[in-house]
Amino acid sequence: LEDRDFATPLVVPATLTPLATAAAADADAYHLTIKPGTAQMKPGRATPIVGFNGIFPGPTIIATRGRPTQVTQTNAWNERVTVHNHGHKVAAESDGHPVDYITPGTSKVYTYPNDQPGGTFWYHDHTMDVTGRHVYGGLAGFYIIHDPAEDALNLPSGAYDVPLLLQDKTFNANNTTVFDERAIGAGFHGDTAVVNGVVNPFHEVATRKYRFRLLNGANAREWQLRFLVAGSSTPLPFKVIASDGGLLAAPVNTTTLSMAPGERYDIVVDFANIPVNTRVTMANTASSQSRDDDDRRGGGGGGGGRGRDIPSLMQFVVARQEADTSTVPAKLANITRYKETDAKSRANVSLSFNNGDWGMNGRSYDPGRIDLTSKLDTVTIWTLKNDSGLMHPFHKHLVEFNVLDINGQPPPPEMRGLKDTVAVPGRGTARIIFKNEGFTGTYVFHCHKLEHEDHRMMLQEGVTR
Ligand code: C2O
Ligand code: CU
Repeated sequence: LEDRDFATPLVVPATLTPLATAAAADADAYHLTIKPGTAQMKPGRATPIVGFNGIFPGPTIIATRGRPTQVTQTNAWNERVTVHNHGHKVAAESDGHPVDYITPGTSKVYTYPNDQPGGTFWYHDHTMDVTGRHVYGGLAGFYIIHDPAEDALNLPSGAYDVPLLLQDKTFNANNTTVFDERAIGAGFHGDTAVVNGVVNPFHEVATRKYRFRLLNGANAREWQLRFLVAGSSTPLPFKVIASDGGLLAAPVNTTTLSMAPGERYDIVVDFANIPVNTRVTMANTASSQSRDDDDRRGGGGGGGGRGRDIPSLMQFVVARQEADTSTVPAKLANITRYKETDAKSRANVSLSFNNGDWGMNGRSYDPGRIDLTSKLDTVTIWTLKNDSGLMHPFHKHLVEFNVLDINGQPPPPEMRGLKDTVAVPGRGTARIIFKNEGFTGTYVFHCHKLEHEDHRMMLQEGVTR
């Protein structure tokens, strides 16, 4: 892509305003309506979507740690849906279970305690068998928890704190989107980057630090991100300050960051030493072309497939000089990190392709069956063993976990904080350690490549006392 291809300004999703209701004293109440609408994703005709309040991305909900929110979702569409708040510690009734449907014409109230560290989360559809089509079609939005302890750190905030929803889509000539749910091998890969619902946007920045809340909201595509400054041969260094569940213990300096579907990383990029009028490209070096047996058997060529590489997502244009009083302290947070010796319970989960479908532990998803039971308040290790050649982003509901190791090695520093999604490499193993807290009930865990999830690569955990 040329500079002139980054011609549309980035849109920062609007923040949803709480309702002024009686409940407002002890909780913030919100109302969202799921309905068809349009989004101006690229120049010309607006793209039809189905979104929260009929917009895409959905409005951003900003909560405060410790103060509950009540979100009423009204389904004004003609399909049943469920809404999951990814990364939230919630009661099972509010977790958006895949068959806890909001049928057309009805509403459901979801209660979120926000009793967890601040961080970047997202709410999205989770309907059994069709999550991929629903999320691709527009049912996704940011849910951010602000945390007083974090506010005190003086990180870049306000207009300098920008959420970025990273996705890929394929467009028809009339700007409608193409989706193919038969892409069960690699999962659906589009051919065009869409950031916050805009194809290849640009965003004007000042010569200072910005916090970007990166969310890989793609159905199946991995990103390997870099920031390339025009006229420079070395990528711009940046700091990773948070992972899925909130702040890291300390910032991690890097020049590249890998993101699997479902993962979030907050980063701080400093444009201070870049001359005004310079363009900085958010580039992607992850290839979408590596294939293996599972990919071929699983219909990677069955339409949709892996698509082509997407070398760049968006550009930042350094537009003005500005002073910067924000800081990134050397110590960010005290985070829970369990050790292997803390564990009182263990289980194995294998990830595999069997009989033409994806599965875990040789099973495919059955919403009426409990596949693993675990005890509340008990430190538990799960060994995730990938028997297929493709990476699977494993996501567990209810609590954040720590990654103990990947292929027997300690995880990279940005993966040593709070995680709820971990990329398990092809033919590899990852071990996670966690303590279920707060609620008993039935929670799912699954692959976050949405075409795999929709092909039943999902099981249920029964959390008991
Ligand atoms: Cu983001 Cu169970 O999903
Ligand atoms: Cu998968």
